[in-house]
Amino acid sequence: MSNKIKVLFVCLGNICRSPAAEGAFKHLVQKKGLEDLFEIDSAGTADYHVGELPHETTRQVARERGIILTHHCRQFEKTDFMRFDYILAMDNSNFRNIASMAVDESQKKKVFKFRKFDSTVNGEPDVPDPYYGGVAGFEHVQDIVERSSQGFLEWILQNHNLSTAVLEEYEE
Ligand code: 4NP
Repeated sequence: MSNKIKVLFVCLGNICRSPAAEGAFKHLVQKKGLEDLFEIDSAGTADYHVGELPHETTRQVARERGIILTHHCRQFEKTDFMRFDYILAMDNSNFRNIASMAVDESQKKKVFKFRKFDSTVNGEPDVPDPYYGGVAGFEHVQDIVERSSQGFLEWILQNHNLSTAVLEEYEE
């Protein structure tokens, strides 16, 4: 088994918020030269869009930030608890659905709300679902997932005791 840090982003449909988060986090990690350290994926609690690329507006907004989304939608499954170290839910409903599939406390402990890591908010609000709204909602989601990715990366590196020296080595 690889010793990479394995991260899974989860929303309802896996065509708007979680692929945007997956893309933003991958982009950030690449920018820092840390891609070898991580395995990154996304999934949906529902199966409505399995096999599809992300929503057209999600892709367009990401593309404008230099991020190309190529993920194909898949549904979250119980085995993801074994495959991933961190499971990041976009909203309370996703969080509850995922947590209810955990078989024990060690699996439950892997589940976080993504906006726990958004430095501009208190508490852990939802990443709002942009699916039924206009482009502004998708841009708002993109801003949120980029900010939360930054906070999450800082937190995770501390959590894994990766010192600044190690990171500088990676960044060279
Ligand atoms: P997501 O948004 O959970 O951010 O991917 C949605 C996508 C599709 C649907 C709902 C939310 N849907 O009902 O099809």
